Amino acid sequence: MRITLRLIVSLVVTVAVVAAFSAYFQVQQEGSRLKDEIERRSRLLAESLQESALPAIQAGTAVNLQRLVERFGNRERVSGVAIYDAKGNALAVTEKLAPNLSAVPGLVADALDRRVDVSTFETTGDKRMYVYVMPLLAKDVAVGALVMLQDATYIQTQLARIWRIAFFRVLVQVLLITLVTLLVVRWSIIGPIAKMAEWMKQLRAGEASVPTFALPKEDLFAPITKEVSTFARHLSAAKAAAGEEARLRQSAEALWTPERLKEHVKAKLHGRPLFVVSNREPYMHMHKGRKVECIVPAGGLVTALEPVLRASGGTWIAHGAGDADFEVVDGKNRVRVPPDDPHYTLRRVPLTKEEENGYYYGFSNEGMWPLCHIAHTRPVFRAEDWSQYQAANQKFAAAVVEELNGVEEPCVLIQDYHFALLPRMIKELRPDARIAVFWHIPWPNPEAFGICPWQRELLYGMLGADLVGFHTQFHCNNFLETVDRTLESRTDWERFAVKKGGHTTLVKPFPISVAFPEAFQDVPSEPGAPTEDRTSMLKELGIKTKFLGVGVERMDYTKGVLERFHGIERFLEKYPCYQGAFTFVQMGAPSRTHIKRYHDFLAEVEQEAERINWKFKTKDYRPILLLMKHHSHKEILPYYRLADVCMVTSLHDGMNLVAKEFVAARADEGGALILSRFTGAAQELRDALIVNPYDAEQLADSIRVALEMDPEEESARMRRMRETLREHNIYRWAGNLIEELTRIRIAPATLAKV
Ligand code: G6P
Repeated sequence: MRITLRLIVSLVVTVAVVAAFSAYFQVQQEGSRLKDEIERRSRLLAESLQESALPAIQAGTAVNLQRLVERFGNRERVSGVAIYDAKGNALAVTEKLAPNLSAVPGLVADALDRRVDVSTFETTGDKRMYVYVMPLLAKDVAVGALVMLQDATYIQTQLARIWRIAFFRVLVQVLLITLVTLLVVRWSIIGPIAKMAEWMKQLRAGEASVPTFALPKEDLFAPITKEVSTFARHLSAAKAAAGEEARLRQSAEALWTPERLKEHVKAKLHGRPLFVVSNREPYMHMHKGRKVECIVPAGGLVTALEPVLRASGGTWIAHGAGDADFEVVDGKNRVRVPPDDPHYTLRRVPLTKEEENGYYYGFSNEGMWPLCHIAHTRPVFRAEDWSQYQAANQKFAAAVVEELNGVEEPCVLIQDYHFALLPRMIKELRPDARIAVFWHIPWPNPEAFGICPWQRELLYGMLGADLVGFHTQFHCNNFLETVDRTLESRTDWERFAVKKGGHTTLVKPFPISVAFPEAFQDVPSEPGAPTEDRTSMLKELGIKTKFLGVGVERMDYTKGVLERFHGIERFLEKYPCYQGAFTFVQMGAPSRTHIKRYHDFLAEVEQEAERINWKFKTKDYRPILLLMKHHSHKEILPYYRLADVCMVTSLHDGMNLVAKEFVAARADEGGALILSRFTGAAQELRDALIVNPYDAEQLADSIRVALEMDPEEESARMRRMRETLREHNIYRWAGNLIEELTRIRIAPATLAKV
């Protein structure tokens, strides 16, 4: 109320002062206008009286003079007229002329003396009088004077009226201001604040985690609304985490949570920050029309690591690939992310077009990617790409070392095949750093890897790390065998380690995972109570179907999308009762499209879908629905939740996190997972229907099994897979990796240069 009162009083005082000033000036103006007017009128009357009075004075005819003044004295507003002789004696005076006008004799004497008109205002009784005296001149000699008296009361009345109107106007304005201020304050400030306060109260009491009303978005409230929403999210998350911790303590389980990881990192790193390096950045700023939009790029690496950095904090160094990336960074190319709730620093490294072409598109994705994935696409190795790969690794090394400045024995987690040379480059500059490189894709057998002309350099670069991680023991073994056959080194098969030039590198499996159960916790879904509505979703998509399948991919030839389509085609041929009743939604984010193989692959997928659709489609039915664009996690979630079956049919895949995301999304314990045996995930998700994607018959049968599975069996399988995920989540992955890395003894002196 105090603020409202202050607001009203200040508005009222301002309005009153402005009104008083304007009334004052109006009164001044009107006053002088009326004075001029009365003076002009007096002069006119005096002049016309003068014409008759002058000869009468000169002739000394007093009777005529008396008649004259009586005649003029009857004019409107004229209160009296008098004529004086040259000595100031009254010759003729109207009856009405008040005898007690004290100013008259003095004014007459003055006018006769100076031979000019003089005038003044004088109050007599309740009347205001205007006294005008004109000397009567004959050949420049004053022979007498005329006195003209006019009633000037109307001037005062008029000026008082102006003040009165101004007063009433201010009064009305004050009332209106008070009313409008009260209403605005009530509706726009007190109302929303009261609602927000009520919501926070409910939040504190644990009754509501999302507001039951629309939070105000006006400029005034925007920062508060943002902060309050973030605060509410944190509070809910903290409560959920505390509850989960308590539950775990009770059941004596030791599951990994973001809080546990945070504490673990703090303890293991002694409060020092964690450093992560990858080619792909977790947030990309892109121009969209005139706006800058922030997107989360598709791909398993970002899906897995983002929650880790959110929990642990630290710095993530990555290529700034968004076209607006460098518009939002500071002078050191750093930006705090996630943008709406910053938890860690993203350091963006700029690359030239040549570097990007040679290092990313060329060597990494046309060479290393097909080299490591046995998916029947030939790797291409060009000397020019190799030198760009070296240059880009060098550039990242410089950026990383700059970030490590001032941090003793820093922990650096390097990601993936883009940076095989980086571990040694960093180690040479910072021998005290603990370096791990995690390889997110498969490692082939030594023969397959041997076709790379720079295999020795790549392995030597990787062995600069203290720890090399893969998803599976199988990939670790392939790596150790490759090193064994390629480099002069000692392989310790008992400890799974390589010793080269006095430096030891441990090689261990760390199966990566997703943020379970946090991944989808912001969107509630209980067993038996799906939040999304399948009918309206299908209506929106423009299809009619009884059963729904889903596939979510970065459009990559290793993902087995064409093989999946052939499986679907066989399924509809083999089991025709499903024609018109089963639709498969394929969500695909176009990826690496500057590479011809990827470009052609997109076209192939579209053609195949078109061919199969043509074969089975009816008026409102299509067996395959392609949704080719980048989808956010939020957009993908309803498809995961409403699908009867999710298909992951990679031809070769390090882990595959789509399979794990699907399981994480199914809190209702429904849905079946068809999973390629060539994925790392197949080793953990044993309750999926494991398939060989090259076998179309097997795929077709698995779709049928999935759709006809007894609901109890379906939920038992899903329950078991969710249990596995709960235990083997991304926090455990990061916790184990960091634990292992910090356990290693660093002996800088022993890092000999070969
Ligand atoms: C795979 C790789 C990642 C990569 C992701 C997306 O998961 O292991 O390193 O980030 O694909 O590919 P992109 O080329 O778009 O980064």
